[in-house]
Amino acid sequence: MPKSCSGALEPRTERFQASQSQPESAKRHADRYAPRSMDAKEIAGRRAAAEAQPGMLLGLGTGSTVHWTLQALGERAARGERVRGVPTSLDTERKARQLGIEILRLDEVVALDLASDGAEEIDARFRMIKGGGGALRREKVVASLARRVVIVVGANKVVERLGTTFALPIEVVPFALAPVARRLALLGCDPKLRLGKDGLEYRTDNGNAILDCAFAHGIADPERLERDIDAIPGVVESGLFLGLAHARVVGHDDGRCEVVEQA
Ligand code: 5RP
Repeated sequence: MPKSCSGALEPRTERFQASQSQPESAKRHADRYAPRSMDAKEIAGRRAAAEAQPGMLLGLGTGSTVHWTLQALGERAARGERVRGVPTSLDTERKARQLGIEILRLDEVVALDLASDGAEEIDARFRMIKGGGGALRREKVVASLARRVVIVVGANKVVERLGTTFALPIEVVPFALAPVARRLALLGCDPKLRLGKDGLEYRTDNGNAILDCAFAHGIADPERLERDIDAIPGVVESGLFLGLAHARVVGHDDGRCEVVEQA
């Protein structure tokens, strides 16, 4: 059983309350997601922001759960705290700027104190599938530079076996799409080219394509699969994130929040 932050064997369960006083920019930001009430994502996202001590250099993840981490950090910035971080996507960079969070580039930092990010799936060993939002490449770089990586998810993202609820995203150089797709299929998946909302080939912030690879029975051996995928010329990044997370914050719709540390 994973150890909790408090050192007990049971995961720490908390009730986490949303701040009622949001700055105007934060409110505008929240409206876009229009949550009906404080849901699992908000609970987990805001709890991760509480891990950020003043002065820390942060990694700013991407997605609708980290959206709430950014909100909470933005509220602190609005109260005068200096909040700084490296964004994992252009979308997060834009949102963070709107919220008064200072943007750092990777040539300005050697390491980060804390990175928080979402995931599509996370298992008991904190292995993950990420990249639903297409930011996998930058997310992995930022996570690899952080002393502590906290993953924020709703309870529905916790799985026994990776690949059972979500296809594995693989970022690929557009030039190499066809040969990479053939090689990936030989690894037992069904690669599908990701399309954007406009119906055209999706492009990441790095100008690459994504193949979403469905495994009919999930991923039996993520470590081996990662090695096999990384060996394919033309692959830029796989959405398998192994050995990168230090803690998992799981939000529940009833207001509970579990913080579990990697053993
Ligand atoms: C983007 C990601 C995100 O972290 C992941 O998609 C989680 O997003 P959400 O919190 O919206 O479910 O990997 O590339």
